[in-house]
Amino acid sequence: PVVARVTDLLSRMTLDDKLGQMTQAERASVTATEMTTYRLGSVLSGGGSAPTPNTAAGWADMYDGLQRGARATPLAIPMLYGSDAVHGHNNLVGATIFPHNIGLGATRDPALVEQIGRATAEEVTATGVDWTFAPCVCVARDDRWGRTYESFGERPELASDMTTVVTGLQGTTPGGPASVLATAKHYVGDGGTTGGDDQGDTALTEAQLRAVHLPPFRAAVERGVGSVMVSYNSWNGQKLHGHRYLITDVLKGELGFSGFVVSDWNGIDQIDGAPGFTGDEVARAVNAGIDMVMVPTEWKRFITLLRGEVQAGRVSMARIDDANRRILTKKIEFGLFERPLADRSYAATVGSAEHRALARRAVAESQVLLKNQGDVLPLAPTGKIFVAGRNADDIGNQSGGWTISWQGDSGPITPGTTVLRGIRDAVGSAGTVTYSRDGTGIDPSYKVAIAVVGETPYAEGQGDRPDGLALDPADLRTVDTLRAAGVPVVVVLVSGRPLDVAAQLPGWDALLAAWLPGTEGAGVADVLFGRHHPTGKLPVSWPATATQQPVNDGDGRTPLFPYGFGLTYATTEPSPPTVPGTPVAADVTATGMTLSWAASTDDEGVTGYEVYRENGATDVLVGRPTTNALTVTGLTPGTEYSFHVVARDADGNRSAPSAPVTVTTAEDDGGPGDGRCRVSYATNDWSTGFTATITI
Ligand code: IFM
Repeated sequence: PVVARVTDLLSRMTLDDKLGQMTQAERASVTATEMTTYRLGSVLSGGGSAPTPNTAAGWADMYDGLQRGARATPLAIPMLYGSDAVHGHNNLVGATIFPHNIGLGATRDPALVEQIGRATAEEVTATGVDWTFAPCVCVARDDRWGRTYESFGERPELASDMTTVVTGLQGTTPGGPASVLATAKHYVGDGGTTGGDDQGDTALTEAQLRAVHLPPFRAAVERGVGSVMVSYNSWNGQKLHGHRYLITDVLKGELGFSGFVVSDWNGIDQIDGAPGFTGDEVARAVNAGIDMVMVPTEWKRFITLLRGEVQAGRVSMARIDDANRRILTKKIEFGLFERPLADRSYAATVGSAEHRALARRAVAESQVLLKNQGDVLPLAPTGKIFVAGRNADDIGNQSGGWTISWQGDSGPITPGTTVLRGIRDAVGSAGTVTYSRDGTGIDPSYKVAIAVVGETPYAEGQGDRPDGLALDPADLRTVDTLRAAGVPVVVVLVSGRPLDVAAQLPGWDALLAAWLPGTEGAGVADVLFGRHHPTGKLPVSWPATATQQPVNDGDGRTPLFPYGFGLTYATTEPSPPTVPGTPVAADVTATGMTLSWAASTDDEGVTGYEVYRENGATDVLVGRPTTNALTVTGLTPGTEYSFHVVARDADGNRSAPSAPVTVTTAEDDGGPGDGRCRVSYATNDWSTGFTATITI
């Protein structure tokens, strides 16, 4: 039926309808009326481009307005709205921001990455957006490239394994609940340019290109990815945006890709090397196999030029029809015709506790422990702990580029938990945490100092470091200030790639590669304090010298730490305390009672308990006693309650819940002044007054 519907639509479309479908404009350059007039097929949010207010409802309103414009045409063909949700819905304030791909590569956990795709799809769906320019499946071979962090790692197998995110984003059935069209990008060889130049030349033989850079696209196609974005790079001097062999013969032919190919932002400008695009470039791009062209502002000129190329016979109607067939097929498969407007029912998933917990777990799994001299880690939460560094208390820095704005920004750009907040929460009242950004104030009285340093945000075009990857001088000064106090120094490196640390490393006691964790900095603290023992493995080789790049191509160089390296803790895995005994209740009154239970045990010592009142899916925390008893008050007479208990140890590990006890509080059956009550639990007995003591 999809094929028949597409054929029927095509038979009724005018040339202008078809040219419009192949055109994608930026949201700030198009109105709802123009959507109708020009029959535009798609709108995008460029990096950081968001409506006001930047809320799920604000996005949904914007989306619905443009979609109504698209539908007010004779064939009512819906638009697709695309946005870069590359680590969560990263253009939306309040969204859950997951670790960038480099950290996810370190987890080696494709199932986790699929779950992240699912969570992202829900938050994206809440805003109406139905298409994301993710995942980036590039294979980063030279860390000087500013987009290294968008790669899952240096090996094609790793990037291929992580294409599970496609299934997460699109769902197992495209068009099912919260199903967002995914894009494998950037096709092909973007991570293999000479010198790590963004948009540079990938000088490789065809066999090398196929062996290193093609496999993740094959994997994404096998998972049913709906679209593929062409890369800005060239292959041996020829720009991919005009590369018919690689796009049509290899991707669509050999790999059997049946979705549609989209250009990068003004990518067709670059085909002939001169600024701006011409009719010739338009024809070369479309004839190469690009189906939809991202022409953010000059989309009217693009339509005019493409019409001219068709009328002059330089672009065939067969090619135009093929492009439209591919685009329309995805619009039908993803349910756009049946459900064109935003599904606001997902609004509560944006930044939800469940998604943030998933992100925190991903952060913990992505940490790679590179050095741990004298087993300084894991830290006990006791004593005096000093924290310093530009990345300790900065959501923007720890999230990196492509977060709220295109290049990313430092500062509190969206809600979340900084690494410092995570450390403070892990320590609680068991110890003290002192923070100063540059390390001033440290003295030998501290038991340990944690330096959270590294990179500040950048995205495409601004992150290349052709001159090497030395640590920022301010960061080096901070770490040196801490070292001068003579206390053990743990360095947490927040960065999108390995930095040159070989010269300094001998003076550091521990080094943890945290990558770009996103909004849930508590996951870093989970590893520092041993709630999660490190399991992350390097997704890229770590260079020994500044001159060793490209170290990721495995070309006979010996890195400081090889691909796959990652330590864990010498101590055994944290084991949770034993389950406390089933609570029993005593002195059951109309409004209160005392609960007690058999104490729990644990090697590290049990530090306390949590008592919960069961309440459907969400249990209510009643109290946190340090001993195995709690008096519960404020209850309603004659009401049934169930309670269970959980034990905690010094490392924050929790036991499983105890079996619950169900108690019905006494009720006053004789009216005011009557001291009699009925205790309906255990004995179902009558007692006098509100303080009957019941023994189980
Ligand atoms: O999707 C991105 C791409 O990765 C780089 N150029 C801009 C596109 C749209 O924002």
